[in-house]
Amino acid sequence: MGKNLLRLKDLPLAGIEGILDQAQRFCDGEKCQEFAGKIVCNLFFEPSTRTLYSFQVAQQNLGLKVISFNPESSSLQKAESFYDTVKTFDSFGIDLLVIRHRRNEYYNEFISKLGTPVLNGGDGTGQHPTQSLVDMLTIRQEFGHLDGLSIAIIGDVAHSRVAHTNFEVMERFGMRVYTSGPPEYVEKGMNPIPFKQALTECDVIMALRIQRERHETNFSMSAEEYHRTYGLTAQNVTLMKKNAIIMHPAPVNRNVEIADELVESPRSRIFKQMQNGVFVRMAVIKYALGED
Ligand code: NCD
Repeated sequence: MGKNLLRLKDLPLAGIEGILDQAQRFCDGEKCQEFAGKIVCNLFFEPSTRTLYSFQVAQQNLGLKVISFNPESSSLQKAESFYDTVKTFDSFGIDLLVIRHRRNEYYNEFISKLGTPVLNGGDGTGQHPTQSLVDMLTIRQEFGHLDGLSIAIIGDVAHSRVAHTNFEVMERFGMRVYTSGPPEYVEKGMNPIPFKQALTECDVIMALRIQRERHETNFSMSAEEYHRTYGLTAQNVTLMKKNAIIMHPAPVNRNVEIADELVESPRSRIFKQMQNGVFVRMAVIKYALGED
């Protein structure tokens, strides 16, 4: 039958650890052809580079047959609904769907009516389970554990499904999770701290993009002013703890939330996160299609 992965909140810590352990084994070179020949369809109704294409690489690595859906050339252009589009793919008798949509919890509309398991590739400002798994794997590789570490998520927290997912799951794993950024984009319940304190005290500094496409009112700060106030710069990263690392879910807007020269600097794990994206998504597919 297969299993959905819609929100990490639905999984106990042991289940999440199992996925991370499998992702690490894939990272260490383990191969898996158990699901070769199964058909997966990636239904992305929002733009994506990393999530969509690392899912595709993961699917190819596992020997799956991959169908990629392009909303621009689909019957959505003939006023077909999101629901009917998803039900159409479900009716084809395929083995797995990966879905991204701009609406929070888009899956509530159809999940009880599908026979095909669904992996959530991101819902609105809600959840992004596979990105959080990527982030936790990357932190685990760096420090060997999660509990007791501190992370500051900096920037447009309110519109970030990455921040929302990480906040919940990392706290559950015993991390201290803080946020920082423009007052209008920091949420009271998410431990806001001043930017300088975040930089000085945390083991992980995660920068976020200003997600303008999700804003209802225009963000008043210019890119330059944002960079001066909340951006990671060669100067202010000298405040970071000796072994602290920089992360970012990407896409990165260089010289806005992070200086160009820091993106590939020794403290940065940004491209490491992308590399881990393939292994995490292989592990999540194995979770969805596997027994038990
Ligand atoms: C993020 C997303 O789409 O939620 N990117 C990603 O999947 N790695 C973050 C963003 O769009 O800024």
